Amino acid sequence: METISLPEPKTKGKISVEEALFKRRSYRKFTAENLSTDEISQLLWAAYGRNKYCKVVPSAGAIYPYEIYINLVDGIYEYKSDRHTILKVVEGDKSRELYYAGLQQKCIKDAKAIIILAVNYEKIKMRYGDRGIMYAHFEAGHIAQNICLQAEALNLGSVCIGAFNEKEVESILNLQNLKAIYMICVGRI
Ligand SMILES: Cc1cc2nc3c(=O)[nH]c(=O)nc-3n(C[C@H](O)[C@H](O)[C@H](O)COP(=O)(O)O)c2cc1C
Repeated sequence: METISLPEPKTKGKISVEEALFKRRSYRKFTAENLSTDEISQLLWAAYGRNKYCKVVPSAGAIYPYEIYINLVDGIYEYKSDRHTILKVVEGDKSRELYYAGLQQKCIKDAKAIIILAVNYEKIKMRYGDRGIMYAHFEAGHIAQNICLQAEALNLGSVCIGAFNEKEVESILNLQNLKAIYMICVGRI
């Protein structure tokens, strides 16, 4: 499957963190216009990219148990943060399938980017036992909030989706040892 290099993420934007926080809200209506490669790059970097020290989000024990996937118009890609690349893992736009797995919430079908957080619970449980599950969920919050604030800073809309059938999403993504726990829909508003 093809690996695509993403544009270098920008570390300076047009609006401040305070402004993004002030403006943040959930959006559930998106236009049909696709996102640019620069916008996709920026959203994935904000989710789980590398920063000056390690990653943009904290992770208990620096375990980083997440894999980040993104559904785009031509397929589902896995984000490789080390090289800031994406690797196609599923051919074709799966937003319709994800919409059905997501209890037919229209925003899922309409979003031009659906970011899916999939966790390897075993990885974090090896170190922290059952408490690791809670830590993993904290980390999902960090990742999702970064995506929402980055979307806001790019003048895009986002909504976090917790209501979906995990098994169906895992099957769409062909996940083996990973659990799909959160989706963030992003689109132009
Ligand atoms: C864990 C979690 C799960 C959520 N699941 C959904 C969802 O499945 N569908 C949806 O439309 N919004 C979902 N939301 C978004 C909330 O409905 C929204 O954040 C809330 O109504 C507050 O509105 P605001 O984000 O515009 O401030 C979820 C938010 C969180 C934090």
